Amino acid sequence: MKTALDNMYSILNFEEKGDERGSLIVAEGDGIDIPFAIKRVFYIYGSDAEVTRGQHANKKTEFVLINICGTSKVKMNNGKEEKVIVLDRPRMGLYLKKMLWKEMYDFSEDSILLVLASEHYDAGEYIREYSKYLAYIDSL
Ligand code: TYD
Repeated sequence: MKTALDNMYSILNFEEKGDERGSLIVAEGDGIDIPFAIKRVFYIYGSDAEVTRGQHANKKTEFVLINICGTSKVKMNNGKEEKVIVLDRPRMGLYLKKMLWKEMYDFSEDSILLVLASEHYDAGEYIREYSKYLAYIDSL
């Protein structure tokens, strides 16, 4: 049975359009490959195995995370349940809906984590304290 947390994320498997020249993966927005219209792209690299990034929830933004090189782990939490997903191939995307608490960690040395976002950056829609996150979801 699907839990509440299971309904807040999904794994995307992009088609690999490879041929003898190499691999090519397309991530088109607007529901084609990515469930939302892509407004922002950023990528994280140079973080090592000791670092934990993220540690926040977003009131509005949805994300798709893709380790286009190397590997990392994402821990997701909805205030009640927790789950860890390993990002270990460029054709895999992790779609995160809004209001999930997330942490990215255990970055391989060569990790490049590409992030596609549904909204422009707005520091005000980030909740960066876990206790505030719990209070916020309780108030909904
Ligand atoms: P932060 O959200 O802490 O990164 P992570 O989610 O990987 O832990 O962002 C690091 C810094 O970059 C912080 O000062 C905010 C800034 N930033 C932007 O200006 N625009 C963006 O789109 C993002 C993701 C971060």
